[in-house]
Amino acid sequence: MTVTETPTKHGLDRIGGDPTMLSDPPAARQLVEQLIVTVAAWKGGVGKTELAKELAWLLDAVLIDFDWDHGNATRAWGYRHEARTNAPLIDAVLNGRTPRPLSGGAARPDLVPCHPDWVHNQPESEQLAAQIQRWSAEWRRPIVLDTHPGGGEATYAAIGVANVILVPVLLETRPLEALEGMVEELRGYPIMIVPNMIAAAPANMVKWLSRISETYQVPVTSTVGAYSWLGQRQLRMAVSARTPIPARSRTYVDEVKTIAAEAIEFALRNQKEESR
Ligand SMILES: Nc1ncnc2c1ncn2[C@@H]1O[C@H](COP(=O)(O)OP(=O)(O)OP(=O)(O)O)[C@@H](O)[C@H]1O
Ligand SMILES: [Mg+2]
Repeated sequence: MTVTETPTKHGLDRIGGDPTMLSDPPAARQLVEQLIVTVAAWKGGVGKTELAKELAWLLDAVLIDFDWDHGNATRAWGYRHEARTNAPLIDAVLNGRTPRPLSGGAARPDLVPCHPDWVHNQPESEQLAAQIQRWSAEWRRPIVLDTHPGGGEATYAAIGVANVILVPVLLETRPLEALEGMVEELRGYPIMIVPNMIAAAPANMVKWLSRISETYQVPVTSTVGAYSWLGQRQLRMAVSARTPIPARSRTYVDEVKTIAAEAIEFALRNQKEESR
């Protein structure tokens, strides 16, 4: 099978510029240039990185990786800091410069890679937030930020600048507890909950999730299924970058596209409310 680049003229073409997915395509096109989506969760292993890299590809966004641990998006992308002499993210932040994203070409999102030293080299969150906003204005492209589990300066910066904060959650006790703590702490932020790895939906867990959503007024996106092949994948490329999309991945790609559209709709709604 040959893998070819999906021609991209705009950051909405890959989610299917289908007007039925978006209520106001012209407004969405305008918004998406300055869109910042942060994927964060107080719980580890809930699917932040998988979602971030697919969304970044689908939106033709710059993926900025704030997670310094191995197993991060940077590593999955194929970037090895050991083979490099610089650390683009740290260099940019320390020198007050805008990083130049690495090109992902036909298969991966463009990337600002992380570095293990990021754990000790994060500026204070307000300063970093101002820098991200500058990068966004200069790039005129959407940004997807992937984060380390839990809080921390970089994560709070990423949360502070986001138009949409996507919080993946599993329908299990500890992830739901972590979710509840997070949305309670971050009241008033534009959070959407993303139920991930949903095979069965135990009624008590669904009820708990609904209660969290209602109590804190946080919307829940469509769900993402559980795909055992996803965790075993060794391909560097985004699943949604395959052309054609293999049969077994189609449902997953459709789910992620739907979530991309829901996130844009949410950001648009918030923008319209703010300008009222
Ligand atoms: N919908 C899904 N179905 C099946 N497996 C999934 C799904 N989403 C993520 N995974 C798998 O679950 C594991 C954890 O996912 P991922 O690395 O994206 O989580 P994370 O929240 O970024 O973790 P960390 O907190 O360590 O950064 C990975 O092996 C990933 O491939
Ligand atoms: Mg991760």
